[in-house]
Amino acid sequence: MKLGKLNVDNNKYILGLSTMGASAACIFKGKELIAAIEEERITRIKNDGGFPFESIKQCLEIADITIEEVSAVCVYWRPYQIFTRLTAVLKKILLSVKFLTSIRFTFYRIYSLFLSNTNNVYPEDRGSWLDLFFIKKILKKEIGNFQGNIFFLDHHLTHQTYAAAMQNWKNSLLLSYDGGGESNSTVLSVNLNNKLVNLKTIKWPNSLGHFYSFFTGYLGFRMLEGEYKMMGLAPHGKPIFKDIILDQILILKKDGSYYFNTKLCDYHGALFGNFNKKLIKLIGPPRQKGDDPSEKHINLASSVQAAFEEAQMHMLNWAKLKYPQIDKLVLSGGCALNVSANGKILNSHLFDKISLPPAPHDAGCSIGAVLAYYYNFDNIFDFSSFKNVKSPYLGYNYSNDEIKQAFDQLEVSIPKKLNDVDLINFTAQCLVDKNIVAWFNGRYEFGPRALGSRSFLADPRNDNIRDEINDKIKKRELFRPFAPSVIKEECHNFFDIKQESPYMNIVANVHEDKKKIIPAITHIDGTARVHSVSFESNPMYYNLLKKFGEETGIPVLLNTSFNIQEPIVRSPTDAIQTFLNSGVDLLVIGNYICDIKWKNENLAK
Ligand SMILES: [Fe+2]
Repeated sequence: MKLGKLNVDNNKYILGLSTMGASAACIFKGKELIAAIEEERITRIKNDGGFPFESIKQCLEIADITIEEVSAVCVYWRPYQIFTRLTAVLKKILLSVKFLTSIRFTFYRIYSLFLSNTNNVYPEDRGSWLDLFFIKKILKKEIGNFQGNIFFLDHHLTHQTYAAAMQNWKNSLLLSYDGGGESNSTVLSVNLNNKLVNLKTIKWPNSLGHFYSFFTGYLGFRMLEGEYKMMGLAPHGKPIFKDIILDQILILKKDGSYYFNTKLCDYHGALFGNFNKKLIKLIGPPRQKGDDPSEKHINLASSVQAAFEEAQMHMLNWAKLKYPQIDKLVLSGGCALNVSANGKILNSHLFDKISLPPAPHDAGCSIGAVLAYYYNFDNIFDFSSFKNVKSPYLGYNYSNDEIKQAFDQLEVSIPKKLNDVDLINFTAQCLVDKNIVAWFNGRYEFGPRALGSRSFLADPRNDNIRDEINDKIKKRELFRPFAPSVIKEECHNFFDIKQESPYMNIVANVHEDKKKIIPAITHIDGTARVHSVSFESNPMYYNLLKKFGEETGIPVLLNTSFNIQEPIVRSPTDAIQTFLNSGVDLLVIGNYICDIKWKNENLAK
């Protein structure tokens, strides 16, 4: 779609929305991104897919405007494609072996996708397709009198525009893949001198996202949430089922595409824990929730990951044959959260560089929708004139005064306050002394990773700390790995990676001689999910890493998200309460320091 010549008004506010799956809102002023927020951070419902009322309100607050001042709303989905999706759903029923069972689940699916707003089992489904037809009404009822225009953008285009804006490469391949957009689940494109050309489109229900989620459910993890757990389990096993999967479940086609056998693997049945008997005969019974994973289950996780990676490489090899001169790859979509698979691409040397945004999943499409809106004016695929779109630090910035108010509201004592230099020195020493630190500093992150604004931090030289954090603090499975943050300049000295990884979404090998030095962040297969930190992106966190490096010779910290079985903390209140209920030794919040003594005194009150 080409809209014609665009005169950018730098004072015009545009709101971007993702309203289902991983709901989020963002606000632009002209071409500057002012704020972007995921709904789950505010509602505290993990993966909240409801209409992003709270994110919209906080974006407006940060921009210091009302909804009446917003000129346009850009939405990450084209609702009128509803009939295409309905046709695909009906086709799936007619082709289903278990016709009646499938009708039941498909009815549920249609209901939840198009009509329901109250799904508590799968909060990702709280949003509804139907909402998209009534955005003006919804905004009027809940937020204020929005008078501007609403623009609906193609879902995969919004994935690709946001991802492309991270680098502004003039020539690149782009792969966006997820559970499914309006009708597409995978889109391969090529950017040739800032002209975007579609190479291949794979339609739902063929979906690598659904393939991966299906087996997440099969392995007893909660679908749409536990995918990263299956990925974490995979290196512990052997991919003995990979050939069976590629022969009967995920069939790779000569034209670079794939076929997902939904007769054997009914995604919607799996949401209810129902699995095909033929499949059970083929690969063994599913894991029951709460049971320890058996060797067979661990091998299945390994096999699913291996098959997923093979399908991904199959598509990329096909595209690379068509455009051998292109040496850069831009990844996006929920499947791009698979950091192990991203590392496999990098290690294949098919591309010199790969790039992903901090929020490759649907939340990022709120930003992508605004970029796609601008792109549609002239069809020039160049986002270099946009400001702040590369930053993951897009939430509210709580001042020390607001943090002090939170202590008052919670009726706890006001802890001691240090200046920036003393704060860094004190925190670094606590980490050297093997304390676990809860770190709250600056604007909160956009995307699923804690990137040094809301993090639990620890000394990576201490291998025991991994079990301590998993078991006593995060209360999660012991096999789950932890990631390292490292100052950008030293990244290549510890990890086999020749590019930056500022959003912690690429896995790289830990150098052989460093594995024993930083065991707490070295995964069983010798890799780590690297987060390279530049001074420009986050000065306080960079300085902390640097100071820790000066004290130990290792400018690396174990960095995991500041949360316990809930979304990452957002506000000072979230942070203080989580700290009080945790086994963490120290909370650094703004310029305040809450130590164990402070914690014990206030818990005793
Ligand atoms: Fe998506």
